Amino acid sequence: MNTAVHTAGDSNPGNARNSGKKPRSTEPLKLLKFAAKYWPLVLLGPLFMVLEVSVDLFQPRMMEVIVDRGILGIGNGGLSDIHLVISTGIRMILLVIAGGCFGILSGVCANVAGQSFGNNIRKACFTRIMHFSFEQTDAFSTGSLITRITNDVTQIQQLFMQAIRGFVRCMMFFVGGTVALLTLDLSFGQVLLIAFPLIFLDVIFVFIKTNPLFSLLQKKLDDLNNIIQENVSGIRVVKAFVQEKREEARFENANQALVGTQFRVELLLSFMRPVMNIVLNLSVVAIIYVGSLRVQDGSVAPGTVMAAVTYITQILNGMMTLAMIFQTLSRGIVSASRLSEILSTDPAITGGSYNGKSTPDINLKYTEDSPASKDPEGINDSKNAESTNDSKNAEGTNDSKNAEDTGDSKNTEAAGSGIVPGCLRFEHVDFSYPGSRVGVLSDISFEIAPGETVAIIGATGSGKSTLVNLIPRFYDPVHGRILLDGIDIKEYDLKALRENVTICLQKSELFSTTIRENISLGNPDASEAEIIAAATAAQADAFIREQPDGYDTAVAEGGMSLSGGQRQRIAISRALLKKAGIIIFDDSTSALDLATEAKLYDALRTGYKNVTKIMIAQRIASVKDADRILVLDSGRVSAFDTHANLMKTSRIYQDIYDSQLKDSDAGDGKGGAV
Ligand SMILES: Nc1ncnc2c1ncn2[C@@H]1O[C@H](COP(=O)(O)OP(=O)(O)OP(=O)(O)O)[C@@H](O)[C@H]1O
Ligand SMILES: [Mg+2]
Repeated sequence: MNTAVHTAGDSNPGNARNSGKKPRSTEPLKLLKFAAKYWPLVLLGPLFMVLEVSVDLFQPRMMEVIVDRGILGIGNGGLSDIHLVISTGIRMILLVIAGGCFGILSGVCANVAGQSFGNNIRKACFTRIMHFSFEQTDAFSTGSLITRITNDVTQIQQLFMQAIRGFVRCMMFFVGGTVALLTLDLSFGQVLLIAFPLIFLDVIFVFIKTNPLFSLLQKKLDDLNNIIQENVSGIRVVKAFVQEKREEARFENANQALVGTQFRVELLLSFMRPVMNIVLNLSVVAIIYVGSLRVQDGSVAPGTVMAAVTYITQILNGMMTLAMIFQTLSRGIVSASRLSEILSTDPAITGGSYNGKSTPDINLKYTEDSPASKDPEGINDSKNAESTNDSKNAEGTNDSKNAEDTGDSKNTEAAGSGIVPGCLRFEHVDFSYPGSRVGVLSDISFEIAPGETVAIIGATGSGKSTLVNLIPRFYDPVHGRILLDGIDIKEYDLKALRENVTICLQKSELFSTTIRENISLGNPDASEAEIIAAATAAQADAFIREQPDGYDTAVAEGGMSLSGGQRQRIAISRALLKKAGIIIFDDSTSALDLATEAKLYDALRTGYKNVTKIMIAQRIASVKDADRILVLDSGRVSAFDTHANLMKTSRIYQDIYDSQLKDSDAGDGKGGAV
């Protein structure tokens, strides 16, 4: 389990309260492992490039032969040799073709290796992001994660390809060209002695100036992507509140900030290119000048000067390209560290080894003891001053239910079958969101028996969603622990835990695929009959059949082609299909009318009686028939008892009741939790 603490100055956004370590500066180099599989291509790419450049470097030599010996007839008594010109010309053409082929092969190797390298990093980052906890995703921000997985991957892919081809090409021109030039005549070296430092200074100046701007550039891109993402997904809200102008202005600001940074980078780069061009042209003039002096004193032939001009052009062009590669390098380094931040962020929430299959001791306990009659460590007593389990039993309201659902039948089924019975226990749980000093939940202790139906009610913002989000470990408590069937949920393998606890979230998230696939997300192996059964229980089957293509009807992005209540019922179908030991409904029926809600609860009562159900609701009518109701007040358990008892003992519950149902008669038997 990962419990490392966020340290001051830790730059990795994923390293929030519970997460992993800070990436070291060598971390970006580790990305190279994603290219390891393609090592033959990584070697062949530069090798073909070496061959291509060798051909290019050989060309001036042949040109020299054509001019000096073929045309001027040097060494041949001044007689031109047309055969030499033609044969050398043909060899030059053949070499150019061969060089072109080497270039193509080098390009293919670099591209395949580069694309695969990028693709592997993209996949690894995506997989890592899928395992992030909510707090880690929040810490990076959605826009930044999108920029990293798209733009940053492209940047390092670019760098990788340039390293394989461009770098080798430049270095060959630089080193090979220098050797070839000096071999022609050492006096040409004087020109290099002046040109090299000038170009070097130019490159270093621009490198130092642009380097910090590249990391700024990526941050500005993050900001822009965040705004785009927010506005595209929230376009309906923007339109509903006629906020297009305001959002356009927000976009414009972020866009301008990006353009401004880009402009500064381009300005610096545009300074570098002309300076290099000037140095290049002056060097050519200098070579011609030095060469003409040497021709005059008979040390070199005119063709040699021509070859020298070609070499100096090749060398300095190589250096100019090298300067460009430096830019890609500095930009690539920024992107590589941003990607390393993702890859070196250990998922803050990792599971243990318990797979939920063996039968824990607590099962036996519940076979013997009804939770309603027993509170082994006095957990409920200490918290629920207003309501005790004893009082519940005194009323005797749920005795028969508990005996039936939470007792023998359930545990007989569970014992040895590997089904988690669904006994849940919170022990002194405190929680606050990362980065916030305000505690959202304090000292929460309660226990829910297998098969019990518990409703949670409380004012908006009282922490209901937060509380249930702790059960599948979307977040971990700051203090205290949560036990599922007597075992700390941290001991569970995360997959096993989430297979045993299903949550129907407050906001029904649907995907842009068919209704059937949206439901079967809960259990991809489910049969058609099981899907229909889940939809029928969720009161969704009838309306799904009325859709143009029934279960195969495509759902628009975010479920926008359906009503709020229809979306909720598809989400409920999905949760029911999962057949987990515990099902949590987070205000999942808020958009249903009372009659439909009542039918849903009836179906749950009969079809899912052995499943532990936790339902958050705002309406008393929705919760009053639950076995017990937990009243949450500002993050604390204020009461936990039956409707009847709460009506006598809990002022908060009475207030909610008064505000909602006094006039409409809560006891009319309509609606109500299972
Ligand atoms: N991701 C988050 N980061 C920081 N604070 C949060 C986050 N989610 C919720 N909160 C805060 O935690 C508190 C409890 O929120 P929660 O969503 O649990 O309330 P709730 O009881 O479910 O409310 P509602 O009935 O409106 O759904 C609120 O004050 C809220 O501002
Ligand atoms: Mg909520």
